[in-house]
Amino acid sequence: MNLRAGRLNSGMEDEAAEFTSSLTFDHHIFEADIECNMAHTRMLAHEGIIPEEVAAKIIDALESLREEGIEALDMDPSVEDIHMAVENYVTARIGEEAGFMHTGKSRNDQVATDLRLALRERIRTISRELLDFIDSISDLALDHTETVMVGYTHLQHAQPTTLGHHLMAYASSLRRDYERLQDTLKRVDQNPLGSAAMTTTSFPINRELTTRLLGFSDYMKNSMDAVSARDFIAETVFDLSMLAVNLSRISEEMILWSTHEFGIVEIPDEFSSTSSIMPQKKNPDVAEIARAKTSTVQGELVTILGIMKALPYTYNRDLQEVTPHLWRAVDTVLSMIRVVRGMLLGIRVNRDRALELAGANFATATDLADIIVRERGIPFRVAHRIVGRLVTRAIEDGLAPGDVDSVYLDEVSLEVTGRKLELDPELVEKALDPLENVRMRRIPGGPAPEMVRVAVEEMKSFIESE
Ligand code: ARG
Repeated sequence: MNLRAGRLNSGMEDEAAEFTSSLTFDHHIFEADIECNMAHTRMLAHEGIIPEEVAAKIIDALESLREEGIEALDMDPSVEDIHMAVENYVTARIGEEAGFMHTGKSRNDQVATDLRLALRERIRTISRELLDFIDSISDLALDHTETVMVGYTHLQHAQPTTLGHHLMAYASSLRRDYERLQDTLKRVDQNPLGSAAMTTTSFPINRELTTRLLGFSDYMKNSMDAVSARDFIAETVFDLSMLAVNLSRISEEMILWSTHEFGIVEIPDEFSSTSSIMPQKKNPDVAEIARAKTSTVQGELVTILGIMKALPYTYNRDLQEVTPHLWRAVDTVLSMIRVVRGMLLGIRVNRDRALELAGANFATATDLADIIVRERGIPFRVAHRIVGRLVTRAIEDGLAPGDVDSVYLDEVSLEVTGRKLELDPELVEKALDPLENVRMRRIPGGPAPEMVRVAVEEMKSFIESE
C-alpha cells in the first residue's frame, strides 16, 4: 500500500524518511492501534458504512496480527509510522479491501486515540505500583512508631520525631502523587476517534459506539481540539515529574542518613555499589541515579511544553515529537518507583544512633519553653528567650542537654528575667527527654505513636477504597 503513489511522484529521501518516521517509538502504541482499528471497523459495519463481510475480514486480519505480534510488521522507515505498517499488514492479508478500514478516519485522530489508550494502561500500572509502595511504607511506619530520631529544619536539628512519623510524611506526599494521576486519568480517558483529520466526516459514523467499544468515559466534543490537544500528555508528565521529585527527596535522605556522620540507616547491599579502588566503600548509587533521573524527567516536561507552545490549530507533525518524551518519562518513573521502593523497604535502622542524635543537640528546647509557659503563665516569647540563653550558656559551659537541670534553668532565668522559675525538677527532666517530647504531641498529624498509628490506619483505609 503506497500512500505516496497519488499526490507524490517519488518515495522520500532515505535520511529524510528516517528523520521523520515515528517507528522507533511506535511500539508503545502497537496494541492500541489494533484496538482502535477494530473498534472503528466494527462501528463502520454496524452503521452500514462498509459491508459486514469486509469488516469481518479486516477484524480477522487484525486479530492474527495481535497474535503474531509487532515482529510481523514491516517497520522500514519508508513506511512512516505504525498506522501505515498495520494497514499494510492487513492489505497484504486480504488485499485492497483493507482500505475500507480507513473510511472516515485519519491518522490524526487515530494517533491521538492510540496514545490515550496506551497511556491509560500505563497510568493504571503506575498507580497500582504506587499504591503498593504507599502500603508498604505504612507497614514500615508501624514498626517505627517509637523509633525516636531528630527532625530537621534547614538541615539543623529542630525537634524530636519518630521514624514512623517521618515515613508517613513520605506516604502522604506519594498519596497526593497518586491522586493527581487519578485526576489526570479523567482527561486522558476521552475519545478523539471520529474527529478524522480535523472536522470529522460526512459519513454517518457513531462516536458513542467507538467510545463504548474502546472503554472511554466520553468522546471529545470538538474535533479540532481532539486531534491537536496534547495537554493530557503534558499533565501526565508533570504528575510524573512531581512523583519523581518526591522519590528523589526520599533517595536524598537515604544518601544522607547512610553517611557515617548520620549513621541512622544502612542501605541494603542489593541497592548499593562499591568502589573499584577503595575496598571499604559502600555507595548509595541507586539513590543517586534516582536523584539524577528526576532531572531527566523534568527535562521531558519542559521539552513537551516547548514543542506545544507555538503550534497553530490543528494537527502539526511536531506533535509526533512529543510522544517519545512521554514514554521515556513513563518508563523512567515506573522503574524509579520499583527501585526506590526496594531500597527503602530494605533499610536497616540504627535505633540507638537515631535516639542518640535526638538527644545530642537541644532538639527538645521547644518543649522546655512550652512547660515554662504552661507552669508559670509567662508569655512564650519570654520563655523562648530564657531557653535560648540556656542553650548558648550550656554550649559555652560544655554541657550536653542531659547535663541541664532545673537548678541550671533557674540560674539562667534569674539572669534573663530577674526571677527564678522553680519548676518541678522531674518536669524539666521530662521536657528534655526526646521520647517524652514525642509522646506529648498527641495532635492529629503529629508524631505521638498513637497518632502515627491513626495515620497509618487512615492511609490503609484509603488504599482499600481505591
Ligand atoms: N506518526 C504520527 C504521529 O505520531 C501519526 C499521525 C501522522 N499524521 C500525519 N498527517 N502525518 O503524530
